[in-house]
Amino acid sequence: MKKILLIHGPNLNLLGKRDHHHYGHLTLAQLEKKVSEYAVRLGFEIKKFQSNHEGDLIDWIQKNSSKSLGLIINPGALTHYSYALHDALLDAHIPCVEVHLSKVQNREPWRKISVTAAACVAVISGKQELGYFEALDYLKKHYQA
Ligand code: DQA
Repeated sequence: MKKILLIHGPNLNLLGKRDHHHYGHLTLAQLEKKVSEYAVRLGFEIKKFQSNHEGDLIDWIQKNSSKSLGLIINPGALTHYSYALHDALLDAHIPCVEVHLSKVQNREPWRKISVTAAACVAVISGKQELGYFEALDYLKKHYQA
């Protein structure tokens, strides 16, 4: 079992069309492809999901986490207020890494708050797609330790 879940929350289906300064130029499909290729190099396999709906994200995490080694999530704006998503990540009982494309700490004050981070083993932000590679490296090290 070497599956890693790659999850994107609301509005991230619009990557490529969103603010390039914050989110870069890649579409979600291009980003997922790059992350999947990097994962294969580390001996992982990616299972991906994106939804604009909090409940759908939670249902998917509940359904898939027991069959997976770890989880990488960019929860989008849910990061800043979804205690339900926090609990779903905690109840997944696998290492979760939170990734943000933009440097959330340098943006609006409400973006500096992450309620999901407490359920994660690491948070990486402001490195665009490299942040996802770093998350995979983190999970690789976690399982080598
Ligand atoms: C984001 C940051 C969030 O504040 C925002 O709502 C997003 C994307 C990021 O990847 O930088 O949708 O998670």
